[in-house]
Amino acid sequence: MKILVTGGCGYIGSHTVVDLLNDGLEVVIVDNLVNSKRDVLEKIKKITGKCVTFYEYDLCDMEKLDSIFKKESISAVIHFAGLKAVGESVSIPLKYYQNNLTGTINLLLCMQKYNVKKIIFSSSATVYGNPKTLPIKEDFPLSTTNPYGTTKLMIETILKDLYQSDNSFDIAILRYFNPIGAHKSGLLGEDPNGIPNNLMPYIVKVATGKLPVLNIFGADYKTVDGTGVRDYIHVLDLSYGHMLALKNKKTGLKIYNLGTGKGTSVLELVTMFETVNKVKINKKIVGRREGDIDACYASCSLAERELGFKCRYTLEDMCLDSYNYVKNNN
Ligand code: NAD
Ligand code: UD1
Repeated sequence: MKILVTGGCGYIGSHTVVDLLNDGLEVVIVDNLVNSKRDVLEKIKKITGKCVTFYEYDLCDMEKLDSIFKKESISAVIHFAGLKAVGESVSIPLKYYQNNLTGTINLLLCMQKYNVKKIIFSSSATVYGNPKTLPIKEDFPLSTTNPYGTTKLMIETILKDLYQSDNSFDIAILRYFNPIGAHKSGLLGEDPNGIPNNLMPYIVKVATGKLPVLNIFGADYKTVDGTGVRDYIHVLDLSYGHMLALKNKKTGLKIYNLGTGKGTSVLELVTMFETVNKVKINKKIVGRREGDIDACYASCSLAERELGFKCRYTLEDMCLDSYNYVKNNN
């Protein structure tokens, strides 16, 4: 069985490619490397001993994308490719709509043309907006506060409409909570260029001395210690969720939350990071970041019941592995 992984050189995609290869599946990656590097392919080979077929194409280039489907006998698609920086999406919204929507529509048109009916799509907890109650279930109302989130919601709608028109499609929409951590080998992980937007990459940059201080965005939230609460999930558990979705015998259009179901505050995460890695994180409380919510964590009972999804890694693992990756790659 040959799986097309869009965005397979990226953070979550690369971990999933390793799982697919270790499971004996063939993998074709399409990635334009806008937010990743080619050397990931070598690292995947080092970990698995196996090669993937790689196309450095942009999903927005329909002719090139079509040529992949023509050449390879694709059985299913895992669709990670997309731009994902919330702040950037506010300043250059058209780029986000063009890249994320055009890329996805091209992909779905190719799937239709070549009769490939199974797709797993990377959605986000951001589609729940500011939830009224917690934990968040899949049937909660949906809303977004930035163009990035809106692209996710629009793609979910496109997938629902497609399924409505042709229910031989088999679609899994996975709504990720906050992925952190890295591969145990220290070869794959996340280390964004410049100043990171997300918490864990920022903590790691402070730990390695690349940034002087962690700004904690607000300590007056209605949470256990006043700092924002999120559901951090190890990227290896997230990738495992994709394997389960791929093998799920139940067909149709399915939507699953992928998180741990546990909320962790900023201060709790920083303290855990300091303890397990025996480093001190210089930090200061500053004002709230616009658009942030008090707390967000998943109910994962649907994924547990229908996919058999259960997280295997703890917050300690996430902190150790995130730091290990960056120490190995600096
Ligand atoms: P990433 O940026 O590391 O990976 C995305 C990959 O897609 C990159 O390698 C990039 O080069 C590629 N890409 C982007 N646009 C492309 C295009 N037009 N054509 C071909 N390749 C293209 O991001 P990630 O963290 O691995 O996220 C994967 C997916 O999961 C994204 O869709 C993201 O929105 C979604 N998601 C991520 C998070 C998170 O916190 N990381 C949370 C929720 C959802
Ligand atoms: C953010 C995005 C979300 C996206 C997700 C994954 C916003 C408003 N939301 O989620 O849409 O799906 O990333 O890419 O950008 N924090 C600090 N200091 C920092 C960074 C973060 O205190 O330097 C705090 C935040 O206020 C928040 C928590 O840490 O309480 C987690 O932040 P982050 O890692 O950016 O994730 P989200 O805001 O949950």
